[in-house]
Amino acid sequence: MQPSRDKVRFVLGSTPLEISLEDPGLTLLDYLRNQACLTGTKEGCAEGDCGACTVLIAELYDNSLKYTAANACILLLGMVDGKQVLTVEHLASDTLHPAQQAMIDHHGSQCGFCTPGFVMSIAALQLDVRHGDSIQTPDREQIDQQLAGNLCRCTGYGPIIDAARQACTQPLPDYWSHQQAAVQSILGQWQKQDDTLHVECESGLFAAPRTEAELVTYLSDQLSPPTLLAGATDIGLWITKQGRQLATLLYLGQISSLKTVNRREDELEIGAAVSLQRAEPELTRLSPDLGLLLRRFGARQVRSQGTIGGNIANGSPIGDLPPALIALGATLRIGCANGQREIPLEDFFVDYGQQDLADNEYVASVVLPAHPQPHFRCWKIAKRFDQDISAVLGAFSLTLVDGVVHNARFCFGGMATTPRRACRCEAAMEGRRLDEDTLAEAQNALQQDFDPIADLRASARYRRTVAANLLDKYFQFLNVTDVPSVYEFSSPQAFTHV
Ligand SMILES: Cc1cc2nc3c(=O)[nH]c(=O)nc-3n(C[C@H](O)[C@H](O)[C@H](O)COP(=O)(O)OP(=O)(O)OC[C@H]3O[C@@H](n4cnc5c(N)ncnc54)[C@H](O)[C@@H]3O)c2cc1C
Ligand code: FES
Ligand code: FES
Repeated sequence: MQPSRDKVRFVLGSTPLEISLEDPGLTLLDYLRNQACLTGTKEGCAEGDCGACTVLIAELYDNSLKYTAANACILLLGMVDGKQVLTVEHLASDTLHPAQQAMIDHHGSQCGFCTPGFVMSIAALQLDVRHGDSIQTPDREQIDQQLAGNLCRCTGYGPIIDAARQACTQPLPDYWSHQQAAVQSILGQWQKQDDTLHVECESGLFAAPRTEAELVTYLSDQLSPPTLLAGATDIGLWITKQGRQLATLLYLGQISSLKTVNRREDELEIGAAVSLQRAEPELTRLSPDLGLLLRRFGARQVRSQGTIGGNIANGSPIGDLPPALIALGATLRIGCANGQREIPLEDFFVDYGQQDLADNEYVASVVLPAHPQPHFRCWKIAKRFDQDISAVLGAFSLTLVDGVVHNARFCFGGMATTPRRACRCEAAMEGRRLDEDTLAEAQNALQQDFDPIADLRASARYRRTVAANLLDKYFQFLNVTDVPSVYEFSSPQAFTHV
């Protein structure tokens, strides 16, 4: 075991703090508002949707600070150990921060409840578009992406977007670089100590192992199954919305091997604790459709927090990535005391809420072929472009040899109790040419593959119809070489309907 420490240690603004945790499930937002009395950070929804609680989290990577905007309402205090937390109170010095000044200049605030969250998201964008001394002025798409996780119910978004544009062209305030240097040095010293956060309190345990070996020891030592905590974009809601008390939390975000991306000649391996935001360029390189899928995953704050492993391990039938990864032929590496085992990703999903994962195991990484089949497409169907869960997600992949179909892999989300391959439909396509008869037979087989449920998102009939239409759309893509690419549509709304 590594040396351990029983207090959460982080920099709040520019002040290093050590905090005793009395509840492993304490959220950063509750700590900020109720204990640190920093009430500028607001609670709107307490479920990661509205962005009123947005703060900046800085982490030390390769000796420089990387900032991300995060939702404090679903981030647990133990997760910021070894990091810097900046709230709206920390932005101004003698003068306002450029993000604050721009909101005033453009009349970007009315009731003001959403304003601190917007200011923090704009401040994050201002840092993002800086590369050394040069500034790459963000275009409208970049601003929209950055602000999609912040909701305003009175001002309207026009003035806020103008404010973001102005703020990003401004230099960083002088005091910013001074505090950056000081914080970098503190985080660097902490990093060198390499000690494990291990907090035992009356209501439970919060531990952040630093290696997979240490994680395995924790997993074997627990009397009752612990909760593995990655980005908390699901678990945070168990606490804030379901009022669950989680007795033992093992945080995976300090294990560097789980945060690694390995590109090999024939495979791409993405560690389970890699954030969705960080995985985006890697997956976009495999297919632009994967890039768009991630672009539509929650919003920026959720993608910065949420992980690839969490999106798989939660076993959700409507998780966005699993159907696409299954169609691409992904495998899952699962870690345990005896090392690792590897299974096809589709075999991981046994039934609703039941995954092929023992209590003493964890998802270590997902492995994708570096050169997937050439004809891969996937489409997410949801009511909104941003921040919406899929009603249906269809992912398709096959190889055409002289116009004949081989190795069809079609997988759907939202059509069954787990993400599931359409095996009858695939069989109906195998060895066939892409003509109308094949499409009709494949669509017919697809109806036999699934018996979808009706819920708030969609009726069973809607889901069946959409799945058949997606197959039709895929046929058009295969048959018509000049079918518009996903990026050629001018309006994002074009993707929400088939
Ligand atoms: C506002 C909002 C929008 C969202 N939008 C989308 C969306 O568009 N599409 C979508 O698919 N999902 C969406 N989600 C759901 C969620 O963001 C994703 O499922 C996310 O990938 C979960 O990852 P996490 O790291 O936050 O998991 P956590 O919340 O930390 O954990 C989730 C589950 O996985 C387990 N787990 C995590 N990592 C591992 C591991 N390595 N090994 C074993 N078990 C593990 C945990 O124990 C827990 O049971 C959204 C959530 C919110 C709050
Ligand atoms: S309070 Fe709404 S996202 Fe946190
Ligand atoms: S100013 Fe009122 S919600 Fe945005």
